[in-house]
Amino acid sequence: QRPILRLLSCPGTVAEDLRRNEQPSGSVETGFEDKIPRKRFSEMQNERREQAQRTVLIRCPEKISENKFLKYLSQHGPINNHFFYESFGLYAVVEFCRKESVGSLQNGTRTPSVAMETAIPFRSRFLSLKLKNQTSEQSCIQSSNQLPPSNRKLFELLCYAESIDDQLNTLLKEFQLTEENTKLRYLTCSLIEDIAAAYFPDCVVRPFGSSVNTFGKLGCDLDMFLDLDETRNLSTHKTSGNFLMEFQVKNVPSERIATQKILSVIGECLDHFGPGCVGVQKILNARCPLVRFSHQASGFQCDLTTNNRIALTSSELLYIYGTLDSRVRALVFGIRCWARAHSLTSSIPGAWITNFSLTMMVIFFLQRRSPPILPTLDSLKTLADAEDKCIIEGNNCTFVRDLNRIKPSGNTETLELLLKEFFEYFGNFAFNKNSINIRQGREQNKPDSSPLYIQNPFETSLNISKNVSQSQLQKFVDLAQESAWVLQQKDTDRLSVSSHQPWGLAAILLPSVPNRRSLTKKKRKRSANESIKNLLESLKSNRTANFTETNEK
Ligand code: GTP
Ligand code: MG
Repeated sequence: QRPILRLLSCPGTVAEDLRRNEQPSGSVETGFEDKIPRKRFSEMQNERREQAQRTVLIRCPEKISENKFLKYLSQHGPINNHFFYESFGLYAVVEFCRKESVGSLQNGTRTPSVAMETAIPFRSRFLSLKLKNQTSEQSCIQSSNQLPPSNRKLFELLCYAESIDDQLNTLLKEFQLTEENTKLRYLTCSLIEDIAAAYFPDCVVRPFGSSVNTFGKLGCDLDMFLDLDETRNLSTHKTSGNFLMEFQVKNVPSERIATQKILSVIGECLDHFGPGCVGVQKILNARCPLVRFSHQASGFQCDLTTNNRIALTSSELLYIYGTLDSRVRALVFGIRCWARAHSLTSSIPGAWITNFSLTMMVIFFLQRRSPPILPTLDSLKTLADAEDKCIIEGNNCTFVRDLNRIKPSGNTETLELLLKEFFEYFGNFAFNKNSINIRQGREQNKPDSSPLYIQNPFETSLNISKNVSQSQLQKFVDLAQESAWVLQQKDTDRLSVSSHQPWGLAAILLPSVPNRRSLTKKKRKRSANESIKNLLESLKSNRTANFTETNEK
């Protein structure tokens, strides 16, 4: 069970949130586009990693003066920035300007003595601040929120929005990872890297997946990749003379066994010595072996893998697609939330569609627009230069890394149109014979009989949605058709109901009522007026209250 982060700051009123949305672009809270990083993925990762190495995580007493706290820590060097958050207690993330400050702070830190138990000594950057004397400090700490909005608040925001475009942008703004949450993700990886470094001093633990691919929602899991390439030192330095030096190592029969052995010891280490790492499970027989655990203090559910460089490259590709055009993220967030609201996706592995597959479907759909909103992977490959050349396990993963070399799209379609057309497109897609392929940006004959075939962009003989059953695919198609229809009624809805009633995006996030599906199938036979009347009746029947928590995972 993932610990749930508690919201400390008073939840603002909807009106306040709307005002925040209206701030001119360039101010802190607005313009999701302002927040889209334009850096190369590798640059962004390196910068964030270096920041995280200068950062400590501190469990604080409930009542603390921020000024005194900062003054106390500044003894070790200047602080670049800091923030507080609540997760079953108060925590501070403090980033020093210099890495030496962390060492200085650690040198003045002791191992606690516990009454009935024995502390295993371990010097990490996860610390605990204690008050020597119980003073009655007045706590006036502003806490950063690490949680997505409640469904109730989300519905209010969506109902007050002016247009479907506005609704999608609101959803994105409310759900996207904040700067603080991103920092906390990199810090958590960095803390895990310190632990793994006990075995592999040159290892790097890198976040991948939705934490870094621009499609992460507050509350999503933290996928980590234990990178041992430095340790393997594959790019052998040229040495002169007739000698070559090699390490003495143990050999095992396969790459998979090596991965399992490495993850097994790291899993043990996290379990026995990792401060705040709980519920460690070694899932070593999976297709991609992993160690799953909860990092209690940050509240993240973590999946640690190794030998998974292609997944990191997929994250880089999605980062590029997510950064190229501001409509991409808004649409992906909308579709991901829609799928979650209708239980098309789940945090439990099974026969359902994954968020990764849904994102591929949106990218493919945007490649199919006229003119295209996103380039195909093949065209990103033609833009690549020598530096971008990349072959992983025999798979060509070459594509342009510099965003500035990709021409922006001339397509000016609105998000509202794109959302409707997405549902129309996939509501009528010939899944029985065609596959989805973002490399070429066009449908192709399915190479096998899997109900849903989405070609893995790098391991091109694989299907990323092989797990999806026919019934789950049918559910997706039915809901897509139904949502396309609901969105077509939007204008009438907007005029007929007060702004407190779900409309547009809010209406399609509501769970289906049993009749709506048959209603969709018969829709062409019925008069438009009768259909709208039925829909309005069902929307008025207070289904907002029944809308169960659908926040991701
Ligand atoms: P969330 O649901 O928000 O966690 O999205 P995610 O993109 O992080 O998905 P997930 O945690 O399931 O997987 C992490 C990453 O692993 C993805 O972003 C992909 O890069 C990769 N991945 C996940 N599933 C597949 C798959 O079926 N095939 C391949 N090739 N890669 C996958
Ligand atoms: Mg993930």
